[in-house]
Amino acid sequence: MAGISHLQWSDGISVRVDGIDVQHKKLFEITNRLIDAFEAGSGDFLEVISELVEYTTIHFHDEQMVMMNAKFPGLAAHTAEHDKFIAKVEEFLQAYGEGHPEVGRTMVVFLKDWLFAHTSGLDMEYAQFLAKKTSK
Ligand SMILES: [Fe+2]
Repeated sequence: MAGISHLQWSDGISVRVDGIDVQHKKLFEITNRLIDAFEAGSGDFLEVISELVEYTTIHFHDEQMVMMNAKFPGLAAHTAEHDKFIAKVEEFLQAYGEGHPEVGRTMVVFLKDWLFAHTSGLDMEYAQFLAKKTSK
């Protein structure tokens, strides 16, 4: 089976909010560590997932505060996406814990793909909103 490629942050997906970019980079770094632990068949894999979920929760909260303070109209829909993601990961973890190890790879790939798609997709909507607001 082909290896899972790493995530790479680049300036093209900057949201132009320093603190949030730092968090996105850290999310990518934890995800890459997760991929490595998973591919190595290391028992650390579940620990790294917990770390990722914990950090993601903090990050989502901070991002929602940024959107709220800016009165971004897409806040509710964006928050719903964040909540859906956490619920999905919890569902995977439960299935894995109930003795479905085959869920592991699907879960790691889902985490990685979702984080990249979200950061480079939906997050750009508030980034553009903020950029317009500050240029006024
Ligand atoms: Fe987000």
